[in-house]
Amino acid sequence: MSGHSPEGPALLALLLSRQSVGIKHLAEPGPDAAQLRLMADAALRAPDHGGLVPFRFAVVQGAARERLATLFAQAARDAGKDEAGAALDAERAQRAPVTIAVIARLDTGHPQVPVHEQWACLGGALTNLLNAAHFMGYAGKMLSGNKVRHPAVQQAFCRAGETLVGWVAIGTPVRSPQRGLDKPRAADVLGDWEPPAA
Ligand SMILES: Cc1cc2nc3c(=O)[nH]c(=O)nc-3n(C[C@H](O)[C@H](O)[C@H](O)COP(=O)(O)O)c2cc1C
Repeated sequence: MSGHSPEGPALLALLLSRQSVGIKHLAEPGPDAAQLRLMADAALRAPDHGGLVPFRFAVVQGAARERLATLFAQAARDAGKDEAGAALDAERAQRAPVTIAVIARLDTGHPQVPVHEQWACLGGALTNLLNAAHFMGYAGKMLSGNKVRHPAVQQAFCRAGETLVGWVAIGTPVRSPQRGLDKPRAADVLGDWEPPAA
């Protein structure tokens, strides 16, 4: 492999080993404050047309975890779940060592940067955040579900004009995910451009 970094191949192998790990396979510890800042720094390395930073992250910690549980239970009841279902969703809200809300703050009227480019930036930021966590020995998963669209949930996380995308659950993986790294092959997404006939 060419490139200026002797660590490059090892880092690339580590990058290629990332996969999502669900909350039931996450345990303490989660990232501390300094590590969360590093993860945010990594997110800020995402390509960002116009430097708009069309995202922000809100860490759910301390007493806020109980508030999130209450919101999840409310959303579950409003979706028709019984009390057992609501209790399960409330418990899920508090299971991961660290929960980070992912919030989009898009400039929908920007003259140069259309909204889809801002979503692309947010996706890159989210991926970099997950990769940084992986590089530090943590694992996690981006989660949303119908509850993310519940008005009280959106309102609880968003300022004017913002959209709650979901939550990243992060912690220490307690065991490998059961499925393998079953991704499509590179050839499925990488090919030569075939220009249309002139
Ligand atoms: C914005 C967003 C929301 C998601 N919401 C959910 C979800 O609610 N439940 C779920 O099982 N996976 C959800 N996923 C997918 C997982 O985070 C994960 O990417 C998927 O399970 C594939 O695993 P992998 O990252 O190891 O390829 C979401 C992904 C994104 C980008």
